[in-house]
Amino acid sequence: MTNTVLCDRSTDAAIAVLTLNRPDKLNALNAELLAELDATLATLSADATVSCAILTGAGDKAFAAGADIAAMLEMTTEQARAFSEMGHRVCSRIEKAPFPVIGAINGFALGGGCEIALACDFLYASDKAKLGQPEVNLGVMPGFGGTQRLARRVGIGRARELCYTGDTVDAEEARRIGLVNAVVPHAELLTKVREQAAKIASKGRLAVAQCKRVLFSGADVPLDVANALETQSFAMLFGTKDRAEGMKAFLEKRKPAFTGT
Ligand code: COA
Repeated sequence: MTNTVLCDRSTDAAIAVLTLNRPDKLNALNAELLAELDATLATLSADATVSCAILTGAGDKAFAAGADIAAMLEMTTEQARAFSEMGHRVCSRIEKAPFPVIGAINGFALGGGCEIALACDFLYASDKAKLGQPEVNLGVMPGFGGTQRLARRVGIGRARELCYTGDTVDAEEARRIGLVNAVVPHAELLTKVREQAAKIASKGRLAVAQCKRVLFSGADVPLDVANALETQSFAMLFGTKDRAEGMKAFLEKRKPAFTGT
């Protein structure tokens, strides 16, 4: 481990703040960073005390300015395939984590940086952020799921336009097209995202995890299959202590004391 990804739980152990940490290279994604992010997410996913994660970039300029172009320069086709698979693995790890991952987009989120962001549950952007898939400028294309997740988030027409032109959008345009949920003054971004993370962490952890699982798993299957998944998770939650506590607390007009069990 070389600290290309930082994990901070010191403010609140239930909230993990992950920071992509190669600020001198605008947090460009190389194999080392992707492996560290994968390992960190695997550890957190196995830890039942984590209720929410935040993913952001070190420094003042970038979330991540893309896959590391210097590292890609000499890649063979086979190495490129392995690199793409690694990016896909990390994105899938984010989507399948049993807690929401909020992207705090603190600057450039380009190429692979935008693709990692797209795997997050939702995004808040600094008013200085710029997002896009500029790979065609380099003679390549998105390789960490961008063609698919961008289309699913902003619609096929806008995804085609962004991928074919390599254009970037500013934070306000990203909000307008549904790529990010909200735009926040740069200096307030992490505070605002922490507030949302704390709100999520105050809820029933298992209930939030099931919401995430069904929203994800249901998105690409027929509606009746997705609805069956929802029923299964809804019923399963009735076997949890948090469900009994949440309902009792409401009827007793007090705040619930959730335990995540
Ligand atoms: N891969 C590798 N290094 C990168 C990088 C990337 N994707 N993006 C930025 N860097 C490096 C630069 O090479 C530079 O390193 P150096 O100081 O050793 O020369 C450092 O990060 C700072 O970047 P710089 O270009 O000087 O910053 P800038 O503010 O002038 O421009 C960007 C910022 C984001 C517009 C510009 O860095 C850029 O276009 N990056 C590539 C974006 C991209 O095409 N991403 C998709 C890759 S598939």
